[in-house]
Formats: sequence, structure tokens, C-alpha cells
Amino acid sequence: MSAPPAIRTRQDYEALAREILDHDRRYYVDNNPILADAEYDRLRKALARAEAEHPDWIVDWSPLQRVGHEPLSAFQKVVRSVPMLSLDNTYDEEDLREFHERVLRGLREVHDPVPPCYVLEPKIDGISIELRYEQGRFVQGATRGDGLVGEDVTANLRTIQMLPLLLAEPVSITVRGEVFIHRADFDEINRACIEAGQEPYKNPRNFTGGTLKQLDPRNVAGRPLRVLVYELVGDRIGQEPLAAHREALARLRRLGLPVNRDLCSASNLDELMAGIRAFAQRRKALPFDTDGVVIKVDSLAQRRALGTTARAPRWAIAFKFPAEQATTIVRQVEVNVGRTGAVTPVAILDPVELAGTTVSRASMHNWEQVRRLDVHIGDVVLIEKAGEIIPQIVAVIKERRQGREAELVPIMEPTVCPACGDTLLRRPGEVALRCPNTRPCPAQLREAIDFFCHRDAMNIEHMGPKLIEQLVERGLVRDVADLYDLTQEQLQALPRMAEKSAANVIRAIARSKQEATLSRLLTALGIPSIGWVWAQKIADRYRTLPALLEADPEQVRKDLTALHGFGPERAGAVADFLADARSRALLHKLMQRGLSPVEPERQGGEGPLAGKSLCVTGTLRVPRAQIKARIEAAGGKFVSAVSSKTSYLLVGDAPGEDKLRAAEKHGVPLLTEAEFERLLAASDGQGA
Ligand code: IVH
Repeated sequence: MSAPPAIRTRQDYEALAREILDHDRRYYVDNNPILADAEYDRLRKALARAEAEHPDWIVDWSPLQRVGHEPLSAFQKVVRSVPMLSLDNTYDEEDLREFHERVLRGLREVHDPVPPCYVLEPKIDGISIELRYEQGRFVQGATRGDGLVGEDVTANLRTIQMLPLLLAEPVSITVRGEVFIHRADFDEINRACIEAGQEPYKNPRNFTGGTLKQLDPRNVAGRPLRVLVYELVGDRIGQEPLAAHREALARLRRLGLPVNRDLCSASNLDELMAGIRAFAQRRKALPFDTDGVVIKVDSLAQRRALGTTARAPRWAIAFKFPAEQATTIVRQVEVNVGRTGAVTPVAILDPVELAGTTVSRASMHNWEQVRRLDVHIGDVVLIEKAGEIIPQIVAVIKERRQGREAELVPIMEPTVCPACGDTLLRRPGEVALRCPNTRPCPAQLREAIDFFCHRDAMNIEHMGPKLIEQLVERGLVRDVADLYDLTQEQLQALPRMAEKSAANVIRAIARSKQEATLSRLLTALGIPSIGWVWAQKIADRYRTLPALLEADPEQVRKDLTALHGFGPERAGAVADFLADARSRALLHKLMQRGLSPVEPERQGGEGPLAGKSLCVTGTLRVPRAQIKARIEAAGGKFVSAVSSKTSYLLVGDAPGEDKLRAAEKHGVPLLTEAEFERLLAASDGQGA
């Protein structure tokens, strides 16, 4: 690692701040970082030191000044000169034809002979915002409000890492775009909410809107909001006139703004429909929700000619996709006990097709929701896929109760845990019903063990739900540390457990002890809101379990809060975990069982194959090009011949003799496809 940059003057300080902003842009906007995490953190630390020593140098566009200090008492109103309009909607080809004809007619009226060219963009399902930059500095961001008057949410928007505080050129512009959140991030937040016994958010859009309305920007920092820009207000940037929307977007991108790149063009109805169909296919693979395609006239001169109505521009329209919903009947309600004791209802449904899969279960999050929706067994319900894999009940169709009243059975909230019989309770301020785990509860233990053994956690193979159930039932495992006391004899004595499978389990447990890294262990412990990515950041900071245990939890809270991206809530969850006597006892017990996980120093590139070169021989289940792409995505190098420098030879069916011989000669280890997958698994779930 190179020496920390020397900062002697205000100019040095500003240069470093710009350098960090540049890395932020590469990471968040271009998705193409050129710096390892540790190196980046080092730059931020140097900047923080300079700001502490010279508070008078601090600029408002500093990457460390994203979070303001004072909560607001209310949002200021922003009155705009150019109102933020809405869009007209269409749902089918016929409506779209009418739109196209209206555009043609409008252009004929002004004697414009040039046929319009359209740009198609995803219609992002988030919250629209307007951003104002003066002399390149981000000065104001506001919500749409009623179009003319919006709310000033500058302080909250500043916390969004993707949003540049400084543009590449000192221009003054106003742009519009959408704030949103990735579905995976949303699901993780809701999972944590449910675990903490809080009411989950309804959908990603609601969450985003609620977040932007927080008066304290500290509550917004750390929430993974994103932003994409899709419009320039006006038709010039500085003195430079622009002719077309696409040109404006390209220019905005060069200024460093996160601009949507998923565009296509069309110049007639057939091309429009083809573009819409292609997008309808693609949208499921996008990491965020979209509810349609926005179709816009590209030429800015034609836009001016067409003008707007009071409500919406005449030069654009939204083609909306129908929401994915279905109706079915609730047949039964199962009571599920989660890893943290939350006791939740799961509706068992008549199987029904929904968005390409057959659905027979729906989550209801909590009992309050059952009451609010007034769901009965026997009810016909409307279900919806809201990003999560398990769909949700959104409403009861009361009209369908008529004549079937006798079949309806009310759903009663349980009073005792179905797994341990303990009396359920609610913590003050929580909606979740919980098993207090005083006995301790076998259902919670089962879930905790399953989580501990997961591929992304301690990666203990052969630990299926049946085996876990037996181990818990017989009292062989009372906490996850007990796994390391299991003997082959104990396992062999279990029904349907042969000598060989018992040996496999014991070996897998022993292997996990050897291969555990601190980040894997931290993931495996299931600390609320600490998934793989965060566990890794903690592990990078502390490296070993004793180091983490010796640190004062309060200091840990401070250290983690200072880490890039870690919000105070997440840091607090770790500190609380470390301050808890039961978790400390568990960690000590794990150490006594010989678990001494260390976090390896990551160097250079990123990813589980960083610094490694792989050669491939024989036929694999996936095409060679894909294997190559995955090796490279994991930070490795794909090489065509085996030499002494090759790290692994990946061997498929009917491998080449020459490569195998070369591997033997140079002592290059062989990998099966399954082993290769395991190596790569370390990168799963690590979105940017
Ligand atoms: S352009 C005057 N482009 O859809 C036209 N809007 O239903 C301004 N939206 O309020 C909007 N993606 O919040 C435009 N690529 C996109 C969009 C988009 C999402 C939202 C926007 C707008 C709403 C209208």
C-alpha cells in the first residue's frame, strides 16, 4: 500500500477531495472502480484528517460532507418556473397509435416535414426529483410536489452516494430524474424489519418516498437509495445549444451525472412496439422496479413545436405494464417461527400462476396485517409479486364472500410458540409477535443452525433440514458452537444415517473450522442487518475474532459508523451484539472449539479470484465464453495454456491430455466444476 497523500495546503485538500469524488463516480455511476476498498478508505481517512485539522478548508462538495448535522424541522417549499409535468399513460398498441398520430398531426401543423424519432426509456418506479447545479455544484434538490411547488430535500439527496456533489465542468443546469432502490436492497431491509419486529415497508417506491421525507438526513445516509437522471430542463448547457434528447443525455453523462443508459430508438409504430416488447422481456432482469416504458420525441425543436398541455407534454407518453397480480383462495394458515423469534402467518393457497411461476404460499408479515386485511381461511384474495419471491396478499375480495359465508374461518393469532410452547409476547413499540426464546426455542435454533451452515456463511455441506431437526430434537446441538462437538458415533446413531454420510458431515464441519474467515463467521451469526458485504467490512477492520472481542463495543460503534457506507443503525446492531453477554459467551465457546477465523488481506483487484489465473480444459456445463466472463468478473485471469504461473486448471468432461500433463508437471491444482462454483460463491450477493 502506498504512503498516505501529504496534505499541506488548501489546494492539496481540494485535489484530494476531487480525487475521491472521481473514485465515487467510477464506483457508483460508471460501475467501474479502479481502486481497492482499503486504498479508497485510506484516501477518505487522509481527507478526514485534513478536515479535522483545518475546518476552515472544508468545501460543501467534500465527499465527507454528504450528511448534514442538523435535522430539519420542516422542508422548505421550492417554487419552480418550469413545472414538473406528469405523463399521459397508454396500455395498448391502439393508444400508442393515437399518440403517434397526434405527434404527426402536431408536426404537420407547424409544417415540420421531418418524421419524428422517438427515444424509449425504462419508466423507473421511484420518486421523481429535480436537481439544480450552479457553477457545477449541487445546490438544490426537490420533489415534484404538485408540479409547481415541491419540497426541498437537498440534505437528504446529498447523502445518496451516486449523486455527484460536483460536476466535471462548472456549468449551471437543472435536471430531472428518479430516486429509487434496488429490489435486493429493499428485500434485505424488509427482512431486517421483520426480524426486528417492525412493520415492513409496502414496496420499494414507498420506502424511497418515506426516506426522502425524513427530516434527519442521518436517517437517510446508509439507506441504499439510487438516482438516475433522464431529462435536462431547457435546451442548452452553458452557452452550448443542444439539438436532441439523446445528445443532452450523453452530455449529462460526461458531466458525471448518473444517466440512464438503457435506451433505444424507434421511428414508427412497429419499431415502437418492438422496443416495448424487448423491454418487457428485459425488465425482469433489471435490479429495480419499472412500471413501463417512457416514449419521448428526440428532437428538442420538435418538442418545442409540440408543446405541453397543463398536465403533460405532448411529446412524450408512458406505455404502462399491468401489475402482476392473481386471485386465489386461502386454504390454511401456517405459523412460522423465524431465526430471531418473530412468529409470522403464512397463507397456504390454492396453487395459481403468477408472473410465470406457480404460487401456493403467501407471506402476511404479521398478525396485524391479517387483522387489517381481514383475511379469513376460505377467502378469495388478491396476491401480488412485489419484488420478493414469495408473493403477498394485498387484499381480500369481499364481493366473493357472498353465499360462502359458512366456509369462512377467522384466523386467530397464536398465544404460544408452536415449536416450544413458550408464551408469545410483543416488545414495546413492535408489531411482531415473538417467541422469547427463554427455553430455548427449537424452531429458532433450527433456523439459526441452517443460517450458520449456509453456503455464504460457514459453508457446512450436508447439513440438511432433516439432520438439523434431529440434532435439535435430541439435544445434541443447543447452540451453533455445539456443532463442533459432534462425533461420528453420535451421527451414526441417528436414523437413516449411514457411516459414510456421518463421516461426510463430520468432515464438512471440521473443514468449516479450517476455512472459516472472520467475514464468514460474522455473516453466519446472523447479526441483524449484517449481510455478507457488511460482515466483510467489519472483518477487514478487525481481522481476527479476539481483536473484535477485545474492542470496546462503544468504540466498535464509532469505528464502524466512520466506515464508508455503514449507517449508525447497522453499526449499532453490531455494537449491541458485541455488548450482549450471550453472544460473547457464544463467541468464546466457538474459540474454545478451535475456531480462529482470520480475515485474509485482500490485495489488488477485487473478488474471490483476485490475483489468480485459471486455465480450462474439457466440456463444462456452461459455454466457455461464460466461464471466462465469470472468472474475470471474480477478479481472475483466464489463460489458454498451463504454465508454472497458472493457479488452477478447471477440468470438465473429456479433458485434454496435454493440459492435464502440464498441470501435473507444474504442480497446478485441478478444480472440478463444483469446486469452481464454490470458489466463486464467495462473490455472490455482493452487489456494488
Ligand atoms: S420523463 C415531462 N422519463 O414517471 C416528462 N419520467 O408518470 C417528465 N419516470 O413523474 C418525465 N422514468 O417520475 C420520464 N425515463 C423517464 C421516467 C420518468 C420514470 C416517472 C417520473 C414522472 C412519472 C410520470
